[in-house]
Amino acid sequence: MYMLPLKIDIESKEILKSAIRANSCLAELRATLNRLPNPRIILNAITLIEAKESSEIENIITTYDDLYKELTLKDTMYPNAKEVLNYRRSIIEGCRLVYSSGFISTNIITQIHHIIEPERGSVRKTTGTVIMNSRTKEVIHTPPQTEMEIRDYLANLEEYINDHTDDIDPLIKMAVIHLQFEMIHPFYDGNGRVGRVLNLMYLFLTKKLEVPVLYLSRYIINNKDQYYELLKEAGEFPDTVTKFILFILDAVTTTSTETMNFVEEILVSFEETSDLIKQHLPKIYSKELVEAIYYEFYTKNEYFANELNISRNTATKYLKSLEEVGILKSEKIGKEVIYKNLKLFKLAGK
Ligand SMILES: Nc1ncnc2c1ncn2[C@@H]1O[C@H](COP(=O)(O)OP(=O)(O)OP(=O)(O)O)[C@@H](O)[C@H]1O
Ligand SMILES: [Mg+2]
Repeated sequence: MYMLPLKIDIESKEILKSAIRANSCLAELRATLNRLPNPRIILNAITLIEAKESSEIENIITTYDDLYKELTLKDTMYPNAKEVLNYRRSIIEGCRLVYSSGFISTNIITQIHHIIEPERGSVRKTTGTVIMNSRTKEVIHTPPQTEMEIRDYLANLEEYINDHTDDIDPLIKMAVIHLQFEMIHPFYDGNGRVGRVLNLMYLFLTKKLEVPVLYLSRYIINNKDQYYELLKEAGEFPDTVTKFILFILDAVTTTSTETMNFVEEILVSFEETSDLIKQHLPKIYSKELVEAIYYEFYTKNEYFANELNISRNTATKYLKSLEEVGILKSEKIGKEVIYKNLKLFKLAGK
């Protein structure tokens, strides 16, 4: 593998055209996001979907129900759900670190890895890691082996990420960064997931997105064979990096549109819920109340009381009224009662 920047032309006419399309879809998504009364409304919901789907690529399969249980209960018993929630935390924390520091360093990438894989150490210290075809055991890619080599490549990647003078479209750069990160494969495990969070962090760094809500992982799962094939090819024949870039640009185009449709649906559902409350429960209606119902797929007494600055008793009364008019549905989990936002639940397809 090579250090960055790559010596090949990554701004061919075909790539630039595809980048224009991806950028315009992303801009439409941004415009839709700006129509939300408060971006926090979709942040939790969408990062949860992204975390769930990204973890599925690694065969960490869980259900939304287990995720809520894991979120709610003090003593946890759903290891897969825990991993998904760690992943979601890594997206939020990654973007917070990028926001506060204004760059993406090796150190930040390592911190993200630690949230996703708390028990898998840091950058590889022993040699022997290769990427194999799990069926045939054929070695597909040999990443840098010694810690020093890995750190050299990461330092080079860090420089490339934070160099904004090269004037290359950030979406094209995101593809190169993702590819390079996967080829370095700096950790024993979790490289795919860290690489997918890195995509979001880079969009955040370059201000392509102000909230990390693009769920690119769905596109990767849906086109997994092609994704692996392109990674393999790019490792063997550097010229084919352009095909990998086109793949990522298509992923941005498709997922921007999908995410935008989802946000539009949330907006409609938000308005419908506001109207229902105004009509049936005018005494308790406030904009903040509706927002509080949309911060997660579910809410509970404690969140509601904190969010709206009301007593626990009042919060319970409100939640019960909202259940009576069919907006929420309560469910007992252990000793806790959670209230699902039915419309939001339905939108996520669960
Ligand atoms: N031929 C290849 N060359 C470089 N990178 C590859 C190749 N094939 C796969 N990869 C990358 O390796 C990742 C898997 O690595 P690893 O198991 O460390 O990460 P993970 O997060 O545990 O897995 P997953 O991506 O399945 O969630 C893949 O997601 C892919 O990005
Ligand atoms: Mg793995």
